[in-house]
Amino acid sequence: MLPEALVQLAKERMAPYPCEGFLPGRGPKHPVLFFVGEAPGETEIHTHIPFSGRAGKELDLFLERAGVNRDEIFISSSVRSRPYQYKTKQIRGETITKKYNRTPTKAEVLAHAPVLDYEIDQSEPEMLITLGRIGWERITGSKEKITQVAGKVIEQPIQQLKSLEDNAFIFSEKVYRIFPTYHPASVFYNPGLRPVIEEHAYTIRKLLNR
Ligand code: URA
Repeated sequence: MLPEALVQLAKERMAPYPCEGFLPGRGPKHPVLFFVGEAPGETEIHTHIPFSGRAGKELDLFLERAGVNRDEIFISSSVRSRPYQYKTKQIRGETITKKYNRTPTKAEVLAHAPVLDYEIDQSEPEMLITLGRIGWERITGSKEKITQVAGKVIEQPIQQLKSLEDNAFIFSEKVYRIFPTYHPASVFYNPGLRPVIEEHAYTIRKLLNR
């Protein structure tokens, strides 16, 4: 459970940005895997369950192949509100303006940093799985392309907020095991990634001796 003061802090830090709702990460203490995604989307903000939309179905396939259940993993992300933008589209001759999900900005990731820092610190995961570029950059600060690092086990300190006053990242003293992979939603625009992601799930299964 996130302390109420931390939720309030995250909401205050997010106030300048076009984001809605707040959904804490979910999972047990000592999860076998801790997933760091991007941000909840429209579905998650309504269901209050991380990865419960279309991308969630892909994540469930990944978990099945990795041999793990949702109740033994922690699922969180770089931002815990839904970043949106208004778009106007013509749908069956009608002009419709509505909110669409969008990628979070660096400022939004920084605004939510105390939440993810707390969740990682409190749950003490055995391994972090970053899903996509946003999660990878949030955790490592690395500019290396996800295509270069995906599927490799990396051991290094992770980024944490230095202090509320400084509002910048520093590296943790603790060294973490990190396994970067693609975001589950990436298969929607790049189906060629599906077998690669499957392979990553089987690698994790072996790493966990399952
Ligand atoms: N993408 C994420 O990163 N998190 C969710 O909960 C849903 C989609």
